[in-house]
Amino acid sequence: MTKYNWGMIGTGWIAHEMADALNSVNGEIYAVADVNEKALRTFSSEKHIQHSYLNPDEMINDPNVDVIYIATPHNFHYGYIMKALEAGKHVFAEKAITVNAQQLNNVRKLAEEKGLIVTEGLTLLHMPLYKKIKGLIQSGKLGQIKLVQVNFGSLKDYDVRNRFFNKDLAGGALLDIGGYATAFARSFLKSQPVSVLTTVDYFETGVDEQSGIILKNLDDQLAVMALSMRAKQPKRGVISGTGGYIEISNYPRATRASITYTEDAHTETHDVITAGDESLALQYEVRDMQRYIEQGHDDGEFALSFDVMNILTNVRNQWGMKYPFDQIKSEQEEKYGVKL
Ligand SMILES: NC(=O)c1ccc[n+]([C@@H]2O[C@H](COP(=O)([O-])OP(=O)(O)OC[C@H]3O[C@@H](n4cnc5c(N)ncnc54)[C@H](O)[C@@H]3O)[C@@H](O)[C@H]2O)c1
Repeated sequence: MTKYNWGMIGTGWIAHEMADALNSVNGEIYAVADVNEKALRTFSSEKHIQHSYLNPDEMINDPNVDVIYIATPHNFHYGYIMKALEAGKHVFAEKAITVNAQQLNNVRKLAEEKGLIVTEGLTLLHMPLYKKIKGLIQSGKLGQIKLVQVNFGSLKDYDVRNRFFNKDLAGGALLDIGGYATAFARSFLKSQPVSVLTTVDYFETGVDEQSGIILKNLDDQLAVMALSMRAKQPKRGVISGTGGYIEISNYPRATRASITYTEDAHTETHDVITAGDESLALQYEVRDMQRYIEQGHDDGEFALSFDVMNILTNVRNQWGMKYPFDQIKSEQEEKYGVKL
């Protein structure tokens, strides 16, 4: 595999894990950028990174950088993605890749025009278990898939300033964890939902704290999702068909699925499938991204991210929950969606 020069933007929680994955797969990381100088210095020394930049734009324009990885709060993703694409760099952006579908549509157009790869860090799309599950579904052993149930609930510390609750940093459960649940649901629906029902409770800062979402498509399939940010739930997905169901715990980084076959209303048999290693989750992401670059296209991940972001935007429009940067105002914001 070719070695790529990655440039990371952000040195927070997930960037630490990604730096370890990049070092494991590539042996080294070319560059890192962050607007927080102290965090930048500590991170680049701890992770043995060759170049560090206090101005992310300078790193994006460093001709030696091949791929930009973005791990800032969501609201900054779009601006950096667009700048990276304009500079001719491939992009791997953490979830939520953008804050709305309009931004992602602009990303899609620019990436196509430039012939560059853009991938969202939706870990479940890179876990080997899902290939096996899809193969099982395609074999027809579960009959016709009718219903997907999926939830994600975390208990975030009560801190109105942190990114989870801060509207100015695109806070709320939908963008933080809803992408995982929606990506799981959409992965097992044959077509994009045409009907979306939802209801929401807000946190005191005005971001969504918990919600219920039901999706329905024209293939007689439903998905039912529950999200919460102040009440822990097991991260569990169930895919049910006319011939049985699959249960997956810890689905964002799953390595094991339990299957119950229901031959008729009275007979059940059980099986288990396993694949992958949870501790390698981000290494799978890096390996996939580098493979996409080498082959010149992804395996359908961007299209799935696009469907997911359209669902999330539909949901948020129904709630009427707007972020300050949803409004495109100046010429620069017209182009990039956020003030840069
Ligand atoms: N894939 C996953 O499993 C996973 C897990 C956690 C978070 N995430 C995503 O990663 C992103 C970061 O989350 P986190 O929990 O690591 O956040 P964090 O708050 O721990 O880190 C954010 C980093 O971005 C930097 N930053 C802030 N504004 C910036 C700017 N304008 N330019 C450059 N750097 C800036 C901060 O200094 C900090 O280093 C979010 O979008 C989140 O949803 C993904």
